[in-house]
Amino acid sequence: MSLHRFAPLIIEWQRRHGRHDLPWQKSLTPYPVWLSEIMLQQTQVSTVKAYFERFIQRFPAVQDLAQAELDEVMGLWSGLGYYSRARMLHRCAQMVVQENGGVFPQDVAALQKLPGIGPSTAAAIASLCFGQAVSIMDGNVRRVLTRLLAFGEDLATSAAQKNLNRLAHDLLPTGVWVQSMHQYTQGLMDLGATVCHTRQPQCGQCPVKDLCQAHAKGLPTNYPVNTRKLLRRAQSWWLLIPTTAQGAVWLRKRPASGIWASLYVPPIYDSHQQALQAVPTVWHARMQVQTPFVHVLTHRDLHLHPLHLRVPATSTWGEGQWWAPADWPELGLPAPLRRLLGPGL
Ligand code: ADE
Repeated sequence: MSLHRFAPLIIEWQRRHGRHDLPWQKSLTPYPVWLSEIMLQQTQVSTVKAYFERFIQRFPAVQDLAQAELDEVMGLWSGLGYYSRARMLHRCAQMVVQENGGVFPQDVAALQKLPGIGPSTAAAIASLCFGQAVSIMDGNVRRVLTRLLAFGEDLATSAAQKNLNRLAHDLLPTGVWVQSMHQYTQGLMDLGATVCHTRQPQCGQCPVKDLCQAHAKGLPTNYPVNTRKLLRRAQSWWLLIPTTAQGAVWLRKRPASGIWASLYVPPIYDSHQQALQAVPTVWHARMQVQTPFVHVLTHRDLHLHPLHLRVPATSTWGEGQWWAPADWPELGLPAPLRRLLGPGL
């Protein structure tokens, strides 16, 4: 069987077995599709759904998002992680409104000029909303296509990525199937997410298993090949969490770049010793040391050591201010801090 059957099989499978009730699929217009694609870049569908609904409710149109204060956007994003996405999202909304009258451009090249929109996100918007014949290349799609083609080149190299992009282009729907571009794009993502799993692909359920060269070789999990391993570094932070009798916590805003940029955090120290030096000696005995835990970031394993300290509301900790529990839901707080402060947040 030849590969010209690939796109029609994906489209037909998407119609019958793909996902149709995701909140961003209600209308395939650029604003919700863009918003969902940015949220989905590093985050699972199950997590994104509630955040997406909250964003759309608060900012029903791109103009509403553009006019919002960045702090409010960060607050709503709080817990989703990879916060530079939220800052770019806000900047992108402002550019679309200021430079394009609130209308998203339709072609891939113009979309890619906007903050936070890379080649795959641009292709997703152009194909899902405008039916353009362009191929997305996110992790799910890369897995599906490298297996289909038994593509063994190392995706750590840009030459291999270019070759795969060219092959992906050759697989795009043609003829009458061009009209179903959005089902094709969604179908590739759905197949990657629900059938062509990383470790245990469900080849028995796959609509293109007869075309799949990795399946024919009996080696689907050998693909994709990627020798680039993310260089991870460990870093330790001691979080001194001063709390008043009324439950207010001393928080300050992080700088605009680096880890947890622009989020609200308690005083952070690089060692237990440094944290102790920031606390009057008479209070050392009542400091509660919580078991440390690891919070995983893109390039970092962050070892967090929470230190709880009950203090009078008259004390201060340099930069920052007391924030009452009623204020917390609106603040941009890193996910682990949200959990430390209270399960209800
Ligand atoms: N991941 C990225 N885009 C997606 C979409 N439109 N549907 C489901 N998962 C996705």
